[in-house]
Amino acid sequence: MSAVPGRPAAAQHRAESLSYQTGFANEFATEALPGALPPKGNSPQHPPYGLYAEQFSGTAFTAPRHASRRSWLYRIRPAAVHGPFVRIDSGRLTSRFDATDASPNQLRWDPLPIPTQPTDFIQGLTSVGGNGSPAQQSGCGIHWYVANRSMQGRYFYNADGELLIVPQLGRLRLATELGVLDVEPLQIAVLPRGLRFRVQLLDGQARGYVCENFGAALRLPDLGPLGSNALALSRDFHSPVAAYEDSEGDFELVAKFMGGLWSARIDHSPLDVVAWHGNCAPYRYDLRRFNTMGSISYDHPDPSIFLVLQSISDTPGVDTIDFVVFPPRWLVMSDTFRPPWFHRNVASEFMGLIHGIYDARKEGFLPGGASLHNCMSGHGPDAATFERATRADTTQPDHITDTMAFMFETRTVICPTPAALALPTLQSDYSDCWQGLPKNFSPHAGGAG
Ligand SMILES: [Fe+2]
Repeated sequence: MSAVPGRPAAAQHRAESLSYQTGFANEFATEALPGALPPKGNSPQHPPYGLYAEQFSGTAFTAPRHASRRSWLYRIRPAAVHGPFVRIDSGRLTSRFDATDASPNQLRWDPLPIPTQPTDFIQGLTSVGGNGSPAQQSGCGIHWYVANRSMQGRYFYNADGELLIVPQLGRLRLATELGVLDVEPLQIAVLPRGLRFRVQLLDGQARGYVCENFGAALRLPDLGPLGSNALALSRDFHSPVAAYEDSEGDFELVAKFMGGLWSARIDHSPLDVVAWHGNCAPYRYDLRRFNTMGSISYDHPDPSIFLVLQSISDTPGVDTIDFVVFPPRWLVMSDTFRPPWFHRNVASEFMGLIHGIYDARKEGFLPGGASLHNCMSGHGPDAATFERATRADTTQPDHITDTMAFMFETRTVICPTPAALALPTLQSDYSDCWQGLPKNFSPHAGGAG
């Protein structure tokens, strides 16, 4: 399959609408030139067009078949062809998460401003916090990105983890080894560990969130009693078709490896894969397609009902990362306090807001901002939301519109970075939003009949 037959790759990158293959982690097969895929086997003695065959694996060779991820790439030059790497300044990007920086306080940040100096996607990464480490291949790093220019003459890959990118402002064009993905706010993109790519800004400026997954590749959750159709549907996931750059010049290849950035010279574009097949591939998903489930009788389900993707751990039922969204939805539960209830969880919760207003905390949680509620830190609706919800007529449905919040939920505490704690966007008065909750208790009011 060719993206746009007969059209050079550079022109494909400029095309208004890109082509995609659908399905989650399918066994895809795609070629930008006809017959570029070997008709038989993966590594023939003479691959078509003089290409090199290269395997790109996302799981251990011996992973169970249902969990195995790998792709075969047919490229102009192997990925090994580049100069030596040297360490470079990592700016505010880190994988060092120190438990002494964590506290039980509830934390919330306003959005980062768009930079005034020229800043590309790599330069604009700021680590908020995380847990685990790339060395252990467990845990995650959570980052913001802000950018005002495209990556120019350089390419990036992350050996430390898979990247879940959540745009909040501005469209991104992700030109990758395996093809080109456009992603806009209310969509997400996931790039496999190690995939080389370049980020172009389609709107001049961009802001969003990145969850860097050190652990097992994100997957769709099992659906249990929900049946065979619910939540994020497999057919709504898009992977790119093959598209290649045959260009030479003085370029830079930036790697994130063991928490720091490294730079190497490369005399050609590493996005030179003419054809590929396999199931280790980047993908995008439109959060507006999420098939939201909820109660139609009473009470509010646990937020696991909003699970889009999960990174499973070695402990059954306990995920390293859950990516959860809170989309527009109807609330119809009767005699129920309808906003998310007050809670303390063993898991730790990083929340972001892509668009609109989050229904549990209408004030102070801004699109592009974030909150962090770590293990056993109490939180829930603010005082004003509690007051409104307590007076609401629950014989009538509520239509929650114009919103898209999300959560990176992790099994271990998310340790904020010193840089994140020093940001002027950290709100000093966040916990005040609960201080107005009154004492309503009266021993003379009567119990449930
Ligand atoms: Fe929560």
